[in-house]
Amino acid sequence: MKNKYYAKFFREFLSRPRAVGALLPSSPQLAKRMVNSIDWNDVEVTLEYGPGTGAFTGQIIQQISPDSRFLAIELSPQFAQLLATQFPQATICNGNVADVESICAQHDIGQVDAIVSGLPWAVFHDQDQERYLDAMMTVLRKRGQFVTFGYLQGLLLPAARRFRRRLEKYFSNVEASSPVWSNFPPAIYYHCRR
Ligand SMILES: C[S@@+](CC[C@H](N)C(=O)[O-])C[C@H]1O[C@@H](n2cnc3c(N)ncnc32)[C@H](O)[C@@H]1O
Repeated sequence: MKNKYYAKFFREFLSRPRAVGALLPSSPQLAKRMVNSIDWNDVEVTLEYGPGTGAFTGQIIQQISPDSRFLAIELSPQFAQLLATQFPQATICNGNVADVESICAQHDIGQVDAIVSGLPWAVFHDQDQERYLDAMMTVLRKRGQFVTFGYLQGLLLPAARRFRRRLEKYFSNVEASSPVWSNFPPAIYYHCRR
């Protein structure tokens, strides 16, 4: 992650705090641990939700096999444009994960094997969390993997506890990581299997 993106990220946070949900991009350590938590055997189609300035994108591209499909879905046109320049080998879609089914259809993708999410779930209303997870279930295959993070400081809040319970409703297996102290703020991530 180049430092020049920190200012861009912060500016985007100031203009859309509820969508960006973080002051700074995730650290390379968090990105590495999340991406490495995926079992990449048999992963042919990968999605990234909310790539922002690409903290996870480079790590994902390093892991996927060259003949597999990878699509990143980003709400912010500014971030989407920056990503397309930074990762010309990736398919960057400027859109909303609520529309994942039609976005996948437009790209001839039926079922998805793995989703790496940078979405700020803790700042979303309950209805939006459900909407995004319902939409995800239309594309994520049975036993498909989903990895997402949350900030340690928020975990005791009711919203975080509700999100954890919601994950357990949608996925047959949910595992929480140990804290990643080298992120600002420190974070944990959930690895989930449908
Ligand atoms: C917390 S930032 C994470 C950025 C990056 N993944 C990272 O970890 O540094 C959340 C990102 O999700 C994007 N986002 C928020 N809601 C979204 C939605 N409904 N669909 C697609 N992207 C969304 C925001 O624009 C922002 O880029």
